Amino acid sequence: MLSRLPRQVSEKILVGLDTSDDAGVYLLDSGEALIQTVDFFTPVVDDPFDYGQIAAANSLSDVYAMGGRPVTALNIVCFPTRDGDEATLCEILLGGAEKIAESGALLLGGHTVTDDEIKYGLSVSGLAPRDRLTPNSGGAEGDLLILTKPLGAGIITTALKAGAAAGEHVAEAVRWMKQLNAGAAAAAAKFQVRGATDITGFGLLGHLHEVAAGSLLSAEIWLDQLPALPGALQYAASGTGTAGAEANRRFLESHVRIQGDAGLEEALLYDPQTSGGLLLCIREPEAENLLEELKATGHEQSSIIGCLRAGPAGSICVTARP
Ligand code: CO
Ligand code: CO
Repeated sequence: MLSRLPRQVSEKILVGLDTSDDAGVYLLDSGEALIQTVDFFTPVVDDPFDYGQIAAANSLSDVYAMGGRPVTALNIVCFPTRDGDEATLCEILLGGAEKIAESGALLLGGHTVTDDEIKYGLSVSGLAPRDRLTPNSGGAEGDLLILTKPLGAGIITTALKAGAAAGEHVAEAVRWMKQLNAGAAAAAAKFQVRGATDITGFGLLGHLHEVAAGSLLSAEIWLDQLPALPGALQYAASGTGTAGAEANRRFLESHVRIQGDAGLEEALLYDPQTSGGLLLCIREPEAENLLEELKATGHEQSSIIGCLRAGPAGSICVTARP
């Protein structure tokens, strides 16, 4: 649909509408890159403060995925004001404000419209030295792929809505969704990471497809290396699926080949994540060191989950148990 909008032509656009990237990037006169992104969605958990934190962490994530540091943020709010539940709205905004402060960005304002369904998120601006950007096109042949958070948040929040999720599973999913990708991005910045994305609504394979296509390479995923949230496979086994996962699977059908029997873990490949981890492309000799750095800085579930290799751009081969 974006292709029907008027083409934006300017040498100042470093990343624009043409690539399905995490954020738009504009070259400032100073030579620094301005990163801009916007994201907002309906509540994924019951507690308004948790929801505000998760939505803000998710919105800030696209700046980290692009190699930048967030500098300013604006609130975007849809709220049914006729309910007059100002305490709930206040909790949501306080949760968001806490994550904005943790990121080091400054909240400059926002906008609220009346809507039947609550929605919250941020528009975030970030900065990065031009040569430190990590767009989807930055992967190289032979790069290993590191994922920094466990998968399965979509399955768990769906089980929660059905009243079928155990409290400890929800708490662990919420803890991960709240976690900023700032630490993972800082670890990546110490190494030669040139390509990255964050895993959100299109699931692991959807976002990997964009990286592989942007880098003009194929990708390989090692199913037994995928980190999963506790409980995710259990709920997948009892039939918890999401419409989003099914849409992701259908969209990717022609690009994905699964070797062997994927079993339950197939659900992790397409599960839509909220505030998921970073997917980092890293030269092979540095991969183990980056993995250690990530594990030492609170990303203990980080895992090398596959690689980029020569082949049809955007195609993905998933290797399951034989
Ligand atoms: Co993104
Ligand atoms: Co986004």
